[in-house]
Amino acid sequence: MPENVTLQVNGESVSVPAGSMVSTAIAIAQASFSSTKPHEENTKKAENVSGSLRDSSRGVVEGTALAFRRSVTGEARAPLCGMGICFECRVTINGQPHSRSCQIPAANGQNVVTEWERMKDECGMMTFHPSSFILHPSSVETEVLVIGAGPAGIAAAIRAAEGGKQVCVVDDNPAPASPGGQIWRGDQARPSSAEAKEWFERLKRVNVSFIHGARIFAQPEAGCLLAETTDGSYELRFEKLVLATGARERFLPFPGWTLPGVMGAGGLQALAKSGFPVAGKRVVVAGSGPLLMAVAAYLRKHGAEIVLIAEQASWSRLIRFGSALFGQPSKISQAINFKKQLAGVHYLPGCWPITAKGKYKLEAVTLRRGDKTWDVDCDYLACGFYLLPNTELAGLLGCEVKNGAVSVNEFQQTSLSNVYCAGETTGIGGLELSLVEGQIAGLAAASYENVARRLFAERAKQQRFAEVLNRTFALREELRALPTADTLVCRCEDVSFERLQKQGSWREAKLQMRCGMGPCQGRICGAATEFLFGWGMESVRPPVFPVRLENLTYP
Ligand SMILES: Cc1cc2nc3c(=O)[nH]c(=O)nc-3n(C[C@H](O)[C@H](O)[C@H](O)COP(=O)(O)OP(=O)(O)OC[C@H]3O[C@@H](n4cnc5c(N)ncnc54)[C@H](O)[C@@H]3O)c2cc1C
Ligand code: FES
Repeated sequence: MPENVTLQVNGESVSVPAGSMVSTAIAIAQASFSSTKPHEENTKKAENVSGSLRDSSRGVVEGTALAFRRSVTGEARAPLCGMGICFECRVTINGQPHSRSCQIPAANGQNVVTEWERMKDECGMMTFHPSSFILHPSSVETEVLVIGAGPAGIAAAIRAAEGGKQVCVVDDNPAPASPGGQIWRGDQARPSSAEAKEWFERLKRVNVSFIHGARIFAQPEAGCLLAETTDGSYELRFEKLVLATGARERFLPFPGWTLPGVMGAGGLQALAKSGFPVAGKRVVVAGSGPLLMAVAAYLRKHGAEIVLIAEQASWSRLIRFGSALFGQPSKISQAINFKKQLAGVHYLPGCWPITAKGKYKLEAVTLRRGDKTWDVDCDYLACGFYLLPNTELAGLLGCEVKNGAVSVNEFQQTSLSNVYCAGETTGIGGLELSLVEGQIAGLAAASYENVARRLFAERAKQQRFAEVLNRTFALREELRALPTADTLVCRCEDVSFERLQKQGSWREAKLQMRCGMGPCQGRICGAATEFLFGWGMESVRPPVFPVRLENLTYP
């Protein structure tokens, strides 16, 4: 039996297995609150919320059963991305507001207050809790600094360390979720595949230092980056830098997508990996990409009922994709495994969600396939429309970013000579491409270009597969018609589709509507507006993630 930790959530004691994130404890506390307290008490509690309550038909009053926070116009909100991007899960932990509960491990004695609960008492005003106005960052100096401990970052670190370099890896995910990135999250102790096992074993044999739970947010000068942790900051000095910041899911706005219970597909999987309770829940998995199958298989294995999988790509594209799997034995065996694990689950190509329904939380989803629309009851909609490279940090450093991905040469070197980039940040291509790119970047950073050359053929093979992958799961035109006039596109600032339609560019939308100015810094709505209106972000400004004020006062 795993050891348990006990913490306080909104004044109630909750026990969760050690290694769970705070978001798991909140979900468990909320489930027990809504099942043990009478409905009237829930409602009364919520009606005490001061400040403007939105029309209850938008889901405020009874939404306490699932709400983590209240949006600027009063909507109930709950986690979306599960990976530290959206900030919908932010809560106050031990007096520190705006802490992302999906990224912070639960610990004994922790005092957690949801933003929803806190704002009842504070009339929606933020309380400032400065721990210090003076920055005392811990200093680290290394020959090779790797940002991101996913497969690409791990491979780069191993190859650079094997080449005799002093290597430090920094990752936003806390231990024990890190190292591993999105696919191998929390796998180090018990690897989920032979491949993961092999890489973690290899990692043990080299001397690589890790800083977990630290997010890079600025570059005060060339050769130096700043990272923030829950209780401090780091100044990281390096000779060579490998960016392996991976990808995130693309979210598209549609009516009801802000309801608690609508989450990213990888988002729900990431939370489930940290113990988020999914057993017995009815889940519709929707959107696009091979990730949908991986998520559905994982959730089913952990007791969820997968109602169906809705894939927006057409049958004809999927058939072409299937034929591209020949020559990729590991991918064929993965596909066969998914088929077995998902036996009996309907997989519907050419199908996508058009509305999430529910008064206070998700109750059903309306799906479209051809001319047909129908409703399906569910507890969760796990929905992500393929992946997008995380290029913000590269953009901040001044690396060239083209067509949404970081440009690199044959040695994975960016337009800056001491900065390399590998994995999904250079374009979506899957695990094998991330691993081979990571190795090339690590070898080149350690000045072993000749050894790196031996991996070029394998990379070229994986790149050809990546091209097919990206063609297959390219989003169809009809998805641009998903939002209605009052659908919120920017979740941080509650900006509707109708208001954005009146703007001419991303810059105008930011200046006039505050779209993209909230804590996610446009990571969710920026990608959506790019798809809906063709807008692009013109520049990246520091900090690339919101940070505590005291960490901004860099000397
Ligand atoms: C949510 C999600 C779930 C996925 N699940 C699966 C799956 O189940 N099966 C599958 O085959 N593929 C999955 N994929 C795809 C898979 O992640 C890729 O194919 C590949 O493994 C990516 O490797 P990577 O090293 O490039 O990136 P990642 O694995 O994404 O690693 C990047 C790491 O960089 C860190 N990072 C990013 N920015 C910063 C910063 N500023 N400071 C510090 N750290 C930072 C992130 O926390 C992350 O740990 C998933 C992708 C996503 C986005
Ligand atoms: S769910 Fe935690 S940041 Fe998105």
